[in-house]
Amino acid sequence: MNDLPSSQPDWPHIISELRSSVTITDATDPKQPLIFVNDYFVQLTGYSKEEVIGRNCRFLQGADTRSETAREIRHALSKCMPVRTEILNYRRDGSTFWNELNIDPIFDKEGRCVLFVGLQYDVTDRKLLEEEATHAARSAHGQSRALMEFMGKLNHELRNNMNGMLGLIDIVLMDETLPEDVREYLELAKGSGDTLLNIANDVLDLAGATDGRMKLERIEFNPKHVLDSIVKTHRLRAEEKGLPLILNVEGIHHQRLYGDPHRLRQVLDNLIGNALKFTTTGSITLTAEESKRAESSPFIYMRFTVRDTGIGIPEEHMDKLFKAFSQTEASHARVYGGSGLGLKICEELVTLMGGSISVDSRKGEGSSFHIDIPFSKENQAQLPL
Ligand SMILES: Cc1cc2nc3c(=O)[nH]c(=O)nc-3n(C[C@H](O)[C@H](O)[C@H](O)COP(=O)(O)O)c2cc1C
Repeated sequence: MNDLPSSQPDWPHIISELRSSVTITDATDPKQPLIFVNDYFVQLTGYSKEEVIGRNCRFLQGADTRSETAREIRHALSKCMPVRTEILNYRRDGSTFWNELNIDPIFDKEGRCVLFVGLQYDVTDRKLLEEEATHAARSAHGQSRALMEFMGKLNHELRNNMNGMLGLIDIVLMDETLPEDVREYLELAKGSGDTLLNIANDVLDLAGATDGRMKLERIEFNPKHVLDSIVKTHRLRAEEKGLPLILNVEGIHHQRLYGDPHRLRQVLDNLIGNALKFTTTGSITLTAEESKRAESSPFIYMRFTVRDTGIGIPEEHMDKLFKAFSQTEASHARVYGGSGLGLKICEELVTLMGGSISVDSRKGEGSSFHIDIPFSKENQAQLPL
């Protein structure tokens, strides 16, 4: 401050020299005439000072200026309030620019609003970039919606036709006089059809879970009963492979919870199915436990762990695990089948339920998949989604 000249600064000169546009109107006149514009305003708009002094600034507006914006300004000025807005303005030569307009009321010592000071910034470049970004986002959204709709229809067609085909194969297979080799071919065809049907179901689920179409249920269920029935459906396959399938539910104390047991089943079915697929010796265990939470909390987190003693996942493949269409090694897809969407769907479903999924694994020693999901203890309680 010590370096300032001792004489009174020449404010009008300083404002005239500013590299920003400054305008001042007489607030006591209802017509709001301009009484001052600086040089930069002349540069920005192409109008000379003589042409604009005494006029209301609305001459900068034109056919494409939003009338609501002008209305908002009028409303604020009538209440002597400051205005911050963006408005499309026209230069003297008819070209347009986006004007970021800041208007402030100036009060005298008695508190009367005597002047308005307006600052104008040309923000056309920024505005165009914003418009481009919005346009790009809209068209990307539209495209992905269209793609999802298309996939939905495609899946519907695929499933209908495949179900028809599989039904026909079943009818032919009922013929006990079929030659053995024909029966074998038909069973192979049926197996391929089943795989295709599963892939179609997976794709549809994933599309629904990722674009927000899938809705969760909230119904009462007994967690032990649900887990019992899940394990039962896999027991036969485990026995065929000579693998014990163990269910450990000692950590569950609640008999009644609220949430979506069908989606929970879908996730656990998937994880147990994978465990069975990739394990040849040892065992598979499904453990469920309640995390310790304050008694007063309306929900509890349940941790489900599916542990196997299978081939395990090499460390370098861990990050690919939850990506769509990724089986950690391409050769796995051929040997073990599947769409490569299973874990991605699990992750999407668990996230939709407000939970998380994680994995510990070592190549050759097996894998443990953990899922932590909150469930309500009361019917109305809001889940921490
Ligand atoms: C100090 C001041 C500066 C203004 N600057 C601009 C401007 O640069 N561009 C513009 O479109 N409107 C500007 N306006 C707003 C218009 O003058 C007018 O108040 C607005 O269009 C609303 O009134 P109306 O609906 O009667 O036109 C300014 C107003 C004031 C008080």
